[in-house]
Amino acid sequence: MGFLDIRRATKSYGAVKILHETNISVEEGEFLVLVGPSGCGKSTLLNMIAGLEEVTTGDIAIKGRSMNGVRPAERNIAMVFQSYALYPNMNVAKNIAFGLEMHGVPKPERDKAVAQVADLLQITHLLDRKPGQLSGGQRQRVAMGRALVRDPDVFLFDEPLSNLDAKLRVDMRTEIKKLHRKLRTTIVYVTHDQIEALTLSTRIAVMFGGHVQQLGTPKEIYDTPANMFVAGFMGSPSMNLFPATIAVEEGRAVAKARCGGGGEVALPFAEGRGFEAQAGREIVLGLRPEAITDRDGADRQSRAVHVVDVPVEITEPAGSDTFVMAHLGGKEVTGRFRADVDVRPGEVFPFAINMEKAVAFDPTTELRIA
Ligand SMILES: Nc1ncnc2c1ncn2[C@@H]1O[C@H](COP(=O)(O)OP(=O)(O)O)[C@@H](O)[C@H]1O
Ligand SMILES: [Mg+2]
Repeated sequence: MGFLDIRRATKSYGAVKILHETNISVEEGEFLVLVGPSGCGKSTLLNMIAGLEEVTTGDIAIKGRSMNGVRPAERNIAMVFQSYALYPNMNVAKNIAFGLEMHGVPKPERDKAVAQVADLLQITHLLDRKPGQLSGGQRQRVAMGRALVRDPDVFLFDEPLSNLDAKLRVDMRTEIKKLHRKLRTTIVYVTHDQIEALTLSTRIAVMFGGHVQQLGTPKEIYDTPANMFVAGFMGSPSMNLFPATIAVEEGRAVAKARCGGGGEVALPFAEGRGFEAQAGREIVLGLRPEAITDRDGADRQSRAVHVVDVPVEITEPAGSDTFVMAHLGGKEVTGRFRADVDVRPGEVFPFAINMEKAVAFDPTTELRIA
């Protein structure tokens, strides 16, 4: 039993199933991120934890107690939304203290709690201001302060950074991470941003079409995606996915793929992947951009870097890296090369491919097979 247990929970509106049977057990202190494209059911699941939406079937329990029929105010959770929903006519201190006041906490205690949270969030100098006098980032801090001050069992965040500009979003992301390190609170955090998911979470549930596609640590999700959807959704640029055929050459399994310019590459799998018995099988090979690079950029720790000549189509210098596009298996693939590498469109260039990081999917089921 976890601290927060989602047990066979589903949600339907009439005949339409929005959330299929979902099981997630969250430990105390975990930072669980629900990530997926718009409309996949993230907010629905979060609202079910909060009690803003009823569970259609199944059950959600906090600290072993079923929350079915328990009103939101009695769940000891705090929620931070994308729209901060601050009271415009109250100053920051009042906004933060309001929930405590509603719960009948005496003023001296409220003042102390507000001071503590303001200190933690570095907004002490803003306590007398009205929300209209604050920047977006400051409002976001106040919204978090209002949640923190209640010392809840579970924090729920629904896309709290979506309204901030890119730079501020990155700063606030780091702030939230620091806050979690310091407080060790249990957090369920919704975002459509896969970078936020990877950087913040202790575990990620990747959702699509009302199904949890994969539940795992950021490393598990990134290195061993359960299916082609997760592979494509998590990571930027996306994992390269291209058709290949397994062959066995001198006792060694290789993935053969067509290559731009009419050639073919044969990429030997790292040992122990078990493909030797599967000659002739069609697969979709998955390689992250960083597993396709120039010779000097290749991972020295890997025992399965294979160099093949590939015609280069486009190069895109991006400051710290140069992205190099080429064709493999009829698909455009992207490699992440060193910034200073001298590679030009139109030339045939040695690509270093790290097959230790290669994953393979079944083209029909789209599930990872190795
Ligand atoms: N009250 C409702 N009635 C019917 N359908 C709804 C309702 N609320 C949400 N939905 C549908 O449920 C799906 C999931 O929505 P939501 O959980 O908000 O997705 P997300 O937060 O991942 O973008 C969407 O297809 C949405 O249209
Ligand atoms: Mg949503």
